[in-house]
Amino acid sequence: MTTSSGSRPGIFAVRDVRSLITETAEEGHGLKKAVGSLHLTAMGVGAIIGTGIFVVIGEGAGVAGPAVILSFILAAVACAFSALSYAELASSIPVSGSAYTYTYATLGEVVAWIIGWDLILEYGVSVAAIAVGWGGNLNAFLDAAFGVALPDAIATSPEDGGIFNLPAVFVVLAITALLVRGVTESARVNLVMVAVKLVVLTFFIVVALFNFGTGNFQPFAPSGVDGVTSAAAIIFFAYIGFDAVSTGSEEARNPAKDLPLAIIGSLLICTLFYVLTAVGALGIASPDQMKDSDAPLAAALDEGAGITWAAGILSFGAVVAITSVVLVIMYGQTRIFFAMCRDGLLPQRLATVSPRYGTPARLTVGLGVLIAILAALVPLSEIVKLVNIGTLFAFVLVNIGVIVLRRTRPDMPRPYRVPWSPVLPILGVAFAVYLMSDLPLDTWIRFVVWLVLGLAIYFLYGYRNSRLRTEATSGTPGWARDEGHQP
Ligand code: ALA
Repeated sequence: MTTSSGSRPGIFAVRDVRSLITETAEEGHGLKKAVGSLHLTAMGVGAIIGTGIFVVIGEGAGVAGPAVILSFILAAVACAFSALSYAELASSIPVSGSAYTYTYATLGEVVAWIIGWDLILEYGVSVAAIAVGWGGNLNAFLDAAFGVALPDAIATSPEDGGIFNLPAVFVVLAITALLVRGVTESARVNLVMVAVKLVVLTFFIVVALFNFGTGNFQPFAPSGVDGVTSAAAIIFFAYIGFDAVSTGSEEARNPAKDLPLAIIGSLLICTLFYVLTAVGALGIASPDQMKDSDAPLAAALDEGAGITWAAGILSFGAVVAITSVVLVIMYGQTRIFFAMCRDGLLPQRLATVSPRYGTPARLTVGLGVLIAILAALVPLSEIVKLVNIGTLFAFVLVNIGVIVLRRTRPDMPRPYRVPWSPVLPILGVAFAVYLMSDLPLDTWIRFVVWLVLGLAIYFLYGYRNSRLRTEATSGTPGWARDEGHQP
């Protein structure tokens, strides 16, 4: 049902899928269609392999012991179901905004806002944290290669005893400049960085296999099943990012084929590398040698296998790997914000595309500066869990979105369909909730506070300025469908 002129859609009004797609071609709001399947898969791998495998693996090994290998598999399985749902929605609704946009078309505006706000945790806030990790690894590399390191005062946050984190600010601003220049250039740079990190991880796996011993695998699961699942809830961070591919769907040349391929392909590639890396790491080092290190894989080579020169190469790889994570995740954040501005839930004037670069330059610079300030001042700790809970919540809504959309829009063209729906999407929800339940109470409290703050902003700004509402009341046809729910 299309909202008739004069009536105000309720908070659960949904965007019309057709208008969502056609509107992206409007003058000044269309993004360049420049990205193919190779670049999209690289975008996924670029977003996925980073801090998780180079840093968080240590914490995972500390919690689960050698059974962290199983945690990697469990987290991958949990992601796989949601990846299928992302693939279906991204191929049917190939517009910017990822889970935010899908939710707007299925569960309604207020839920879309909640998810868009929630994705700021997954994207914006995590970029700041990942940039801090980048700075730490840069210092480790400088130390290993040249015996010099930046002083703490300009290399750590106030909470960690410094003044501000210069390397973190540097990487965020450099990536911001790259994103402003355009997605084709960014995708090319990303491709090179992805190649480097796959080579570095392969190097690690090969060195580990040549020095492999089975002694560290006993006892295999000292904390039992609980240890494996708790570690999986943390290790989940290592897989975050495959959904970032869907944030670029509007710029995909052939979304029907390329998006499912890129989302599922990048998840598979990363799972393979992660499991081999975890097996290799435990083949040369004990969980105790890795758990407290800022660079556990380098520590495994250095302390575990005694191959110090390889540790330098690895920290270099970590710097490159994390650079591409910053690039893709930040790209995702700009596109989600772009979609939210375009819909009027955030100021629409920010959603203009620069005629010179064909990118949302103003928005990108604004976000870059905010994230850089955050990166200068925040410590890494705890952010991983907060980012995880936010992302898992997004997964829950995306899976529900698939089920709802199959019922409300059964005839909509779906270039890719999740097999055995609704069984697999329900499993996606169950796995996400299961991992969420393994995160600590503190994380839950922070998450709820964040959502409440978001709701306050929605009712004070988004509800009044939403294009769905302003255009429906002025009689613009086809933009909104009100499902009949009223606030
Ligand atoms: N998966 C990304 C990483 O591990 C967020 O850095």
